[in-house]
Amino acid sequence: MARLDPHSYTESSQPLAKHVALTLYFDFAARTIHGSALLTLPAAHTGPLLLDTRSLLIHSVLDPHTTGPIPFSFPSDPTPDPVLGQPLCLSLSAQSAALVVFSTSPSSSALQWLSPAQTASKAQPFVYTQCQSIHARSLFPCQDTPAARLVFSARLNLPHPLTAVMAAARAAAPRDPVPGEAGSACPDALWCAAGRSVEEFIMDRPIPPYLFAFAAGDIAARDVGLRTRVHAEGGAALLDAAAREFAGAEEMIRAGEALFGPYEWGRFDLLVLPPSFPYGGMENPMMVFLTPTVIKGDASGAQVVAHELAHSWTGNLITNKTNEHFWLNEGFTTYAERRIVEVVQGEEMAALNMGIGWRGLNDEMDRFKDNMEFTKLKPNLEGIDPDEIYSQVPYEKGFQFLWRIERQVGRPTFDVFLKKYIAKFKFQSIDTETFLEFLKANLPGIENQIDLKQWVEGTGIPPDAMEPLSSIYSKIVSLSNEFKLGNIPKKQEVANWSGQEWELYIENLPKSVEPSQIAALDAHYRLSESRDYEVKVAFLQLAISSGCKEYFGEVERTLKQVGRMKYLRPLYTALVQGNAEEAKLSARRIFAEARDTYHPIAQGVVESILAKHS
Ligand code: BES
Ligand code: ZN
Repeated sequence: MARLDPHSYTESSQPLAKHVALTLYFDFAARTIHGSALLTLPAAHTGPLLLDTRSLLIHSVLDPHTTGPIPFSFPSDPTPDPVLGQPLCLSLSAQSAALVVFSTSPSSSALQWLSPAQTASKAQPFVYTQCQSIHARSLFPCQDTPAARLVFSARLNLPHPLTAVMAAARAAAPRDPVPGEAGSACPDALWCAAGRSVEEFIMDRPIPPYLFAFAAGDIAARDVGLRTRVHAEGGAALLDAAAREFAGAEEMIRAGEALFGPYEWGRFDLLVLPPSFPYGGMENPMMVFLTPTVIKGDASGAQVVAHELAHSWTGNLITNKTNEHFWLNEGFTTYAERRIVEVVQGEEMAALNMGIGWRGLNDEMDRFKDNMEFTKLKPNLEGIDPDEIYSQVPYEKGFQFLWRIERQVGRPTFDVFLKKYIAKFKFQSIDTETFLEFLKANLPGIENQIDLKQWVEGTGIPPDAMEPLSSIYSKIVSLSNEFKLGNIPKKQEVANWSGQEWELYIENLPKSVEPSQIAALDAHYRLSESRDYEVKVAFLQLAISSGCKEYFGEVERTLKQVGRMKYLRPLYTALVQGNAEEAKLSARRIFAEARDTYHPIAQGVVESILAKHS
């Protein structure tokens, strides 16, 4: 018996399911989904089959052909692992399929249920999923490792007037329920009750479970481009703004295809979520999920869209086998994102993003100075919750590694290599060793030119990483250095700065400065009131670390408006990290008041920040 992945109970000696058919009945009042998952194996199997579950109630397991019961047990009963959950062991006898009947629970971490008050339109409830990295198991029983790719079909039963979207293709228009079609998932009396409708979807390309995604609510849509439509709850004004913000999507897809090969997913739709969405974006295939904070009215959401689009090649086509190889996913995507940005927004903007990334990578070295394992490209994650150690390291060290290789072999050669790599491993889940072998085979001699072992297994930032110098980057960094001498940038120096320039400027300031300087900077440029959350949060973080109490109110408003972890993390950390008792107390009070509005993943992350500094 050997596990395939430190974050899954999946056994390497057992077959991986190739298909799952899901039937899901949504009970908004009880914040519960009653469902069934029909898992199909490549061939008949006899013996145990371990599945991952967490916060699921398993009602029964049936043989779909005979409808007879399949014996099952919970080997770790009664103490589920807080991170991994509880393995469900089916005992199969020459069976190639099993129907697991289950219910989610209100604490299922893949789901956020929003009351009407928590939505933009305030009229209807909303629910959405976030399965990366290991939350799919709280939604349906599965082999929840990216090593296991599967295709699926899904049948969703919703109350009027809610509609659903999925990271999948729509198989049929919404229709009335039909008796009998729910099988064991739920009684016909519920399934066919008045005011229910059924929506069906299909994903015919094999995906890892973390890319399974849906949302349901009062969702409407606008066309943006040939293969792109934007969906959102929140009414016409939000949709119009989103459609404007994302108008460049088609140009980006074409840029991606020119660089990395055909776009393999058919549609590239976007879903704008309510503000509690815990990430900037999530690359769910065919339907990228986005935070509403990317809509700023200045087309700057482009970077996030470029990133999630880039995953269509690096991540969704080639997936990391386990989270220890996460850099294959995010490092490649960060590299690919910047190549797309370079085409559509120019070299300067790409260089600026690289500069922000470099700053971020250096900050992570400080964060992990007592735990250098997490500065490795390929860390040991045995016993570690991936949400806990989420960092810029796989993104930015991964980016630096690929950029280093590009510098060594030259861009034309590297571009040929990239296309070949994607074509070779598409629809597979691979590990770092597989990448390295392919690298050495296709760029002969590379191992003599670059210390691959140091890049992959070493801690810290390798000496041949490179600070991404460009004129705009150097200018901003020198203005940040000027600030230390008491100089605030002049109006004409910042005249055409967008959010990204400000972000880089603020992030290059010392971590704590004279409160009077903070006040002076804000008096000039109103950074604490910026509509751009990247700028506002960077500024507020600096203000709190510098002991400026007058910003507590703005920090509290921000922490209650948005649930994106990129903003929650630095603000809560800044509040609790110093010695100020008052700041610590506010952090606890604000969290107690805002907790229910955060996604379960974000709740966990904030709880651990508060616990670390108690
Ligand atoms: N796949 C990630 C988000 C993610 C990572 C969710 C790990 C859960 C676990 C996504 O592609 C991402 O990186 N989003 C960034 C966008 C940014 C890099 C442009 C984010 O959310 O900030
Ligand atoms: Zn990503």
